[in-house]
Amino acid sequence: MYLCGFPCMVWELHSAHITQLMAMSSPLQNLPTLISARGNGTTTAARPPRGRHGAVQAAASDTSTAVSGGYEEGKLARPKWAGETPLSRTVQALISFRPLYSVLKLVARRVLISTAEKNNIPWKEMTKEVLESEVYGEVDSIQNQSIVYPDYYFKPFHAYDEGNLSWLAAAEAEPAMLSMAKRAVPDASSAYEANQIMRGNWLDAIEQHIMQYSQTSMIHNILDLGCAVGVSTRYLADKFPEAEVTGLDLSPYFLAVAQQKEKTGVPRKFPIRWIHADGENTGLPSKSFDLISIAFVLHECPTTGIVNIVREAFRLLRPGGTLALHDSSMKSKVLQELSPVLFTVFKSTEPFLDEFYLTDMDETLREAGFVNIKTILTDPRHATITATVPL
Ligand SMILES: C[S@@+](CC[C@H](N)C(=O)[O-])C[C@H]1O[C@@H](n2cnc3c(N)ncnc32)[C@H](O)[C@@H]1O
Repeated sequence: MYLCGFPCMVWELHSAHITQLMAMSSPLQNLPTLISARGNGTTTAARPPRGRHGAVQAAASDTSTAVSGGYEEGKLARPKWAGETPLSRTVQALISFRPLYSVLKLVARRVLISTAEKNNIPWKEMTKEVLESEVYGEVDSIQNQSIVYPDYYFKPFHAYDEGNLSWLAAAEAEPAMLSMAKRAVPDASSAYEANQIMRGNWLDAIEQHIMQYSQTSMIHNILDLGCAVGVSTRYLADKFPEAEVTGLDLSPYFLAVAQQKEKTGVPRKFPIRWIHADGENTGLPSKSFDLISIAFVLHECPTTGIVNIVREAFRLLRPGGTLALHDSSMKSKVLQELSPVLFTVFKSTEPFLDEFYLTDMDETLREAGFVNIKTILTDPRHATITATVPL
């Protein structure tokens, strides 16, 4: 089952759907009173930063800086529904109640698909196209039979009982991503445009960082750690056509979809290489990349996983290399004001969200050895954190 392919999928739920959810589950009827959070879950107008490099204005230093990138920040350090607040604990207790969790999972999935389709994302068609394709043949050439999965990877996740280890999750990943982008940038005229804006701002933040802090702007080798079905990987390969790009993920199903899609696309000077490995311990040579991107991955990992992945990225980068993390921002005003039902459903599909929100990312990066740590809100819901390996 699939509820939230990416961080914000569940935020596709609209108020009418919330009513539907409530009607179908009696425990949910009491939810708004059980949780005394404020906020209406609506989004404020999104304005992409103007100009290619207009958003980041940080002086070279080894201290951390954060800028809003033109998007609105909330007043809190993190949403009240995340972390170790009484509200967060109440939500956690609610979603641990199995019958309620099962209802949330089923209803929200149905609503998500229909909402995506209303946004002109042909969810069912895209999924069917993958499931009825030759994708199954790709697994043999990709799967690393000796891989040892971290324990957390086997948890039910995004409302799929098998987490990311399933064909359905792999087939639905791209429409899910589009749906998330449209929710993140609601002013965009389509989900495709929203994805362009969201990804464009992330790439601009990376480019700006490289220009500011690396002695050379030449990028020869890029790793997209946690590449899923290759959406972020293709954006990186298009942005840096002279670089050799590697997409790495723990799910052989996701990688099979990525590889098959790439095979049917326009040939590249440097074809993307797909690797089935654990980002915590990739087995790849030290100092072999100039840029590592980790997009929408760390909110799916427990704190130990986050720390290990950041350390591994430090090991894999060359001196002067750049790390870019792209994920939900706890400073986002939209996320801080999410309605009670929405954040409850959201948390029910993201088992490590509290750990992610409680991890001090700047400190984690500093402890791993990174300098020039910059955070910028690159759309109303997500931040891009960039950092450098010292020369
Ligand atoms: C939301 S998807 C990433 C989406 C993709 N980066 C993009 O921006 O389009 C998160 C991915 O992280 C992967 N992942 C989680 N933990 C991992 C780990 N320890 N090593 C490698 N990949 C991991 C999951 O398998 C999943 O495909």
